[in-house]
Amino acid sequence: MKRLDGQSALISGAARGIGQGFSERFLAEGATVGIADINLDAAEETARALGDGAYAVQMDVSRQDSIDAAIAAVVAQAGKLDIVINNAALFDVAETVDITRASYDRLYAVNVAGTLFTMQAAAKQMIAQGHGGKIINMASQAGRRGESLVLVYCSTKAAVISMTQSAGLNLIKHGINVNAIAPGVVDGAHWDHVDAMFAKLEGKKPGQKKAEVAASVPAGRFAVPEDLTGMAVFLASSDADYIVSQTYNVDGGQWMS
Ligand SMILES: NC(=O)c1ccc[n+]([C@@H]2O[C@H](COP(=O)([O-])OP(=O)(O)OC[C@H]3O[C@@H](n4cnc5c(N)ncnc54)[C@H](O)[C@@H]3O)[C@@H](O)[C@H]2O)c1
Repeated sequence: MKRLDGQSALISGAARGIGQGFSERFLAEGATVGIADINLDAAEETARALGDGAYAVQMDVSRQDSIDAAIAAVVAQAGKLDIVINNAALFDVAETVDITRASYDRLYAVNVAGTLFTMQAAAKQMIAQGHGGKIINMASQAGRRGESLVLVYCSTKAAVISMTQSAGLNLIKHGINVNAIAPGVVDGAHWDHVDAMFAKLEGKKPGQKKAEVAASVPAGRFAVPEDLTGMAVFLASSDADYIVSQTYNVDGGQWMS
């Protein structure tokens, strides 16, 4: 028997990167997976590539109507919703004096409001079904400590850790476990973009920021999405029934808390 046999999952921001990695592993563990993303074409391509059990779902986590429609689409496709991973997020860097309202609003709409209201919509569905569920939020080492050029993103991830605590305490009476994963640095398109942003802000050569960051990780390298999938499967499985409101660092030894 596989660890997620018969489970129905929705993973936001799953068209690429870490969300795609979670989706692939969840399928291998027997779940069906709604590959939910603001970029429907990319979600469809990913769902096709992942094969049986994967299907694309249009979802913009910054819009309530889109959250509700995405949950309804999963229930229509799979008959129920057992697991949600709030994985979609945006990143930005700026000197504190240069942070714009537009950047703040964009990141808070996706990373904070998107996580909160997807958790809420998922919880309503799980409560109506009457057999609990699992919600996993994507935090970050950036939520554990501020970073000089990353004020807005770091604060959104600190909010994710806090929301995980409160929602977990509130929803466990319904058998819904809310927990979070705090990755360190994970290689992929996101970090290529981050490297380019730092190159612009700090005058570094392309690839230089990534090399410096990799050298600072105790494990000596960036993570790949597969380094995180075991924790996600664990938190989505019945092995985590007694785990409430926790944020687990999966970061190669960066952070201890
Ligand atoms: N990559 C890292 O080093 C790292 C480190 C710590 C935490 N994280 C967190 O892990 C998660 C995944 O990171 P990633 O590197 O795979 O990101 P990514 O940028 O590669 O992928 C994010 C996905 O989210 C989608 N998306 C963006 N806005 C959306 C919206 N409004 N609604 C729905 N989907 C939307 C994008 O289309 C994309 O497919 C994020 O929460 C991120 O903050 C990443």
